[in-house]
Amino acid sequence: MMVYRHAVILAALLLICATAVAAPDAQRQAQLEHLLTQDCGACHGLHLTGGLGPELTRAALAGKSRDSLIATVTQGRPGTAMPGWAPLLSPDDIRWLVDLLLQGNPAP
Ligand code: HEC
Repeated sequence: MMVYRHAVILAALLLICATAVAAPDAQRQAQLEHLLTQDCGACHGLHLTGGLGPELTRAALAGKSRDSLIATVTQGRPGTAMPGWAPLLSPDDIRWLVDLLLQGNPAP
């Protein structure tokens, strides 16, 4: 009985967590892909293979920590050209963009 009750609580917690990290909807995803090419691409290159900012391809980011990349996009890197995007992008937006980069970006 105890075990069963724990399972129910665990399932409820998982459901709450899954909802909290919901990905941006399809329209927002399209906007973010556009932003990645246009705005991020202005510094990181149209194909994100580097420019003023470093390459952001899956190969270039391999092994870097997801959390530190999220922090970089959120806060920027003081003393460098990399701006913080927190004023423009929600935490979900930023997580989604970083995951997109880690999976291999969609830029042509
Ligand atoms: C004005 C130029 C500029 C723009 C716009 C810009 N970046 Fe950057 N970005 C940089 C620079 C320069 C660095 C390297 C900072 C350093 O030397 O540590 C950087 C670093 C990064 C890094 C860390 C890469 C690594 O290898 O650790 C990530 C991730 C990143 N940018 C993502 C983005 C994303 C996503 C966007 C768009 C939402 C963006 N950047 C827009 C200039 C820019």
